[in-house]
Amino acid sequence: MQHSAFQSWTPRMSRDFGEAIVKARHRLQESQLFSDEALAALVDKHPRELSDFCAPTHDEQGHEILPAGEIGDMSGAALVHAAHQGKLWINLRRAMNIHPEYLELIESAFSDLRRLAPRFRPTRFSGGILISSPAARVPYHADKTDVILWHVRGVKRIHVYPNAQPHLRDEDMEVHMLDIARDDLPYDASFERSAEIYELTPGDMLSWPLHSPHRVENVAGLNVSVTTEYSSWRSALQNGVYYTNAVLRRRFGLNPSPAANANLAERVAKLAMARVFQKLGWGADAAEPWTPPQAEDLTGALAPQIA
Ligand SMILES: [Fe+2]
Repeated sequence: MQHSAFQSWTPRMSRDFGEAIVKARHRLQESQLFSDEALAALVDKHPRELSDFCAPTHDEQGHEILPAGEIGDMSGAALVHAAHQGKLWINLRRAMNIHPEYLELIESAFSDLRRLAPRFRPTRFSGGILISSPAARVPYHADKTDVILWHVRGVKRIHVYPNAQPHLRDEDMEVHMLDIARDDLPYDASFERSAEIYELTPGDMLSWPLHSPHRVENVAGLNVSVTTEYSSWRSALQNGVYYTNAVLRRRFGLNPSPAANANLAERVAKLAMARVFQKLGWGADAAEPWTPPQAEDLTGALAPQIA
């Protein structure tokens, strides 16, 4: 069947994919694998070490953060119910990779996308399922890999910003490359002048250029989305520049030229250097001390909503 996973795909989307924001229609939302019952069963069987349960709160500076919490022996059904009722954010990392029925679904969409988008050439991917409350938010950040957001249930609004100064500063991305857990970025309200805002309803897919900062606000209903993060040679080369520049700046006190100016030869050389630096442990040495938001016991906070 032609274009089986994508509705209304246009030649312009084929051209823009990977270079500009592309919003298209997919068909994942037609699957029963994202019903409340299926998601509850998935939460129960998904490995706990790949599951994040977060209740949004604020840090001392008043910024919203998403600390992961402990949920004890709460059932998948109770947690999905809590997500419906309150501010809970569930991330089932690699759910699309490790459960065969979900893998089949995403591989079918990927094979169509490979055919439609010449720049969609993933070398590996990681697909998670996000289940979040009607009021949940994801603060301003940039992902290290390319990302496609496949929206399945509910309504959410996503603000996407240019992947360039001042929205994305080299120093911040360099720090992120040294620490896998970090993706936060400093936000300024003036950035909104450059934001592109999309309201996503079930069946919408959004992709954006590598490292474009973004933030998300849920608008209505329980939100369920699949996020596929994928690596490619393009992202490896760009990340190699940031990693090498991080070591040059932070270990050797140099002032490397902006990553955006690096030509192909410099990208290749800096990716090779990054791999050497990593082996030598210089990247880890240059990382900034950072403690992720502390885990909390969420069982008490969620219990009244389940009753
Ligand atoms: Fe993201």
